[in-house]
Amino acid sequence: MKIRLPLLIITLIASIITVTAVVSAAEEKEKKIVLTEADKKIIATGKVNYNAYCFVCHGADGKGTANPATPGKTMGPALANSKRVLGDKDIIIRIVMHGVTGPIDGVDYAPQVMIGAKLLGYDDEKIAGILSYIRNNKDWKNEAGMISKEEVAKVRAADKDRATAWTLEELEKKFPEKK
Ligand code: HEC
Repeated sequence: MKIRLPLLIITLIASIITVTAVVSAAEEKEKKIVLTEADKKIIATGKVNYNAYCFVCHGADGKGTANPATPGKTMGPALANSKRVLGDKDIIIRIVMHGVTGPIDGVDYAPQVMIGAKLLGYDDEKIAGILSYIRNNKDWKNEAGMISKEEVAKVRAADKDRATAWTLEELEKKFPEKK
């Protein structure tokens, strides 16, 4: 008994670890973004606002509108499957709020520029709706979850003196752990 008790404990601990690992792996697979009815309404309004402004350059399909002035190049980068659109909230909120300039994934879209929503006078709710729409667009295969107007308000306050567009390099430096 003196020898067996530790063995029994080890076996027990090992089986607990195994069960926990299997359960959390299953949970990981199940982890899908669930949108409430309220979320869907916000997204629908976000779509209307996207179509009013962003659509011109980023397109209905989120792949960027062809630019007749620069053949082979679109007016803006693809938002479908964009690392930033689907990525960290601190970064994507800033891109849309203050704008972004410079190459995106090696492509320079000049002379097109992306004017930030703040400069256009969009309030937190409008920005949150647009962000939630582009992050949860099933047709684009984007599934990244909602962004609330409170989260947008926090970024607006944190960078209240910011008037110029970001570069991706600058954002990566500001949030090295989040790029
Ligand atoms: C006049 C064209 C134009 C309009 C309108 C526009 N954008 Fe852009 N957008 C761009 C360009 C061009 C870039 C690339 C950066 C640059 O060169 O300024 C960009 C970059 C972006 C990026 C970064 C993509 C990435 O993968 O990092 C996001 C996100 C984005 N735009 C979202 C929006 C949203 C949301 C709106 C509407 C509120 C909008 N844009 C309106 C032209 C536009």
